[in-house]
Amino acid sequence: MAGQVQQKSMSGGQANESGKYGPVPKRCVVTGGLGFVGQRLVETLVERGAEQVVSFDIVPPAANVWQHKAIKYVTADLCDYDAVLKAVEGADCVWHNAAAVGPFLPKHFYKNVNVIGTRNVLEACKQQGVRKLVFSATPSSRFTCTDDVDGKTEAEMPDIPQECYVAEYSATKAEGELLLRKACKEDEILFVAVAPHTVYGPRDNLFLPNLLEAAGVGKLRIFGSGTSRVGYTHVDNYCHGLVIAEKQLYQGSPHLGKFYVCTDGPTHPHAEGYSVFWEELDQAVTGMGFDSLYSKTALPYFLLRIIAFICDVISTMTGKKLKLGWFTLRMLTMHRWFRITAAQNDLGYQPVVSYKDGWPDTIEWFRNKWLPTFDPKTASGTTGGIAQQTVDKVKIQEQKMQK
Ligand SMILES: NC(=O)c1ccc[n+]([C@@H]2O[C@H](COP(=O)([O-])OP(=O)(O)OC[C@H]3O[C@@H](n4cnc5c(N)ncnc54)[C@H](O)[C@@H]3O)[C@@H](O)[C@H]2O)c1
Repeated sequence: MAGQVQQKSMSGGQANESGKYGPVPKRCVVTGGLGFVGQRLVETLVERGAEQVVSFDIVPPAANVWQHKAIKYVTADLCDYDAVLKAVEGADCVWHNAAAVGPFLPKHFYKNVNVIGTRNVLEACKQQGVRKLVFSATPSSRFTCTDDVDGKTEAEMPDIPQECYVAEYSATKAEGELLLRKACKEDEILFVAVAPHTVYGPRDNLFLPNLLEAAGVGKLRIFGSGTSRVGYTHVDNYCHGLVIAEKQLYQGSPHLGKFYVCTDGPTHPHAEGYSVFWEELDQAVTGMGFDSLYSKTALPYFLLRIIAFICDVISTMTGKKLKLGWFTLRMLTMHRWFRITAAQNDLGYQPVVSYKDGWPDTIEWFRNKWLPTFDPKTASGTTGGIAQQTVDKVKIQEQKMQK
């Protein structure tokens, strides 16, 4: 399981897990291979016996990434077609996982990375004769601007394109997925889309750090009634889903072009496939030694609507990213959980890490690795700027993309 080791993979670098889960392609490419999911995906492929994994990312590898003879780190921008073309040469399968993720990035990132970048990967695969592509998708591309997702299967969710998207991120991820779907329909590539929901685990740089920072400075409150139901995905489970999806990529496969959601499924506290968001978050908050969210007054929804509106206006006028906007409010108050029926039936997906193990392990990892770096003097609150960790990451991407 994703864990503690730095120079080795997060699982400690088991030599070959292919016996347990079946073989993987020999030559693999992972775009976004240094991100939260991508890094673990690269490790998983190596652990399952891949001979070469190209990790393609715009940020350079940190000093503590896993150095393994099978892993080749390529630092380049997806918008640089020649670099992408070179990276996918000779690949048996490409996992296109890089994206401009979350609500906090400059607007132009989303189109550049999620649409133009995806088109580059597609065209490069076609030019190099790479047939197989697994796409990291997002369920938020299927969220409507009004309805909750309270236990829908993949087939029951609205299809893309949609009239209204909850965020630029979701709109551009949908656009990228549609490009791939069209190419698959025209038999230019073999492709499936696999989405997680609220990925958690060691090395998460977005979800928990932003919320824990606000909690750590005493500024996080439960939003509204605090009863929203959310499906979670341990990073190992998502990587497992992405890896096994490749087995469905063959000529005539009935699953080509489809969209799957992989979560912790029946291992959630509510076996239908969800957790109560604020109850679980409170475990992480108190796990850091911060005051319980239940010891504070919850923020009423109508007040949050007003604050979110003001924050969005300030963000638009100043360009400064604030944590609380309409998107964040919607995500923290709506029901967002799925029945992973298609993933189970078509991919044979089952979580490899149960929520009851994965969540406490993650809290422990944050206590050991994140908490010592937390500084209340520089941390941001609920409506304030985004976590320093997220800011740092955006800065690197911004510098590289400008070159
Ligand atoms: N984390 C989640 O909860 C979540 C939920 C739904 C879907 N996803 C999907 O999973 C995938 C991975 O997400 P993540 O959480 O690991 O995000 P992440 O931000 O940690 O990783 C994305 C990686 O892509 C790289 N990247 C961005 N722009 C690039 C460019 N122009 N060229 C090359 N590399 C570039 C980044 O440097 C980063 O390392 C994404 O496709 C995302 O849409 C994630």
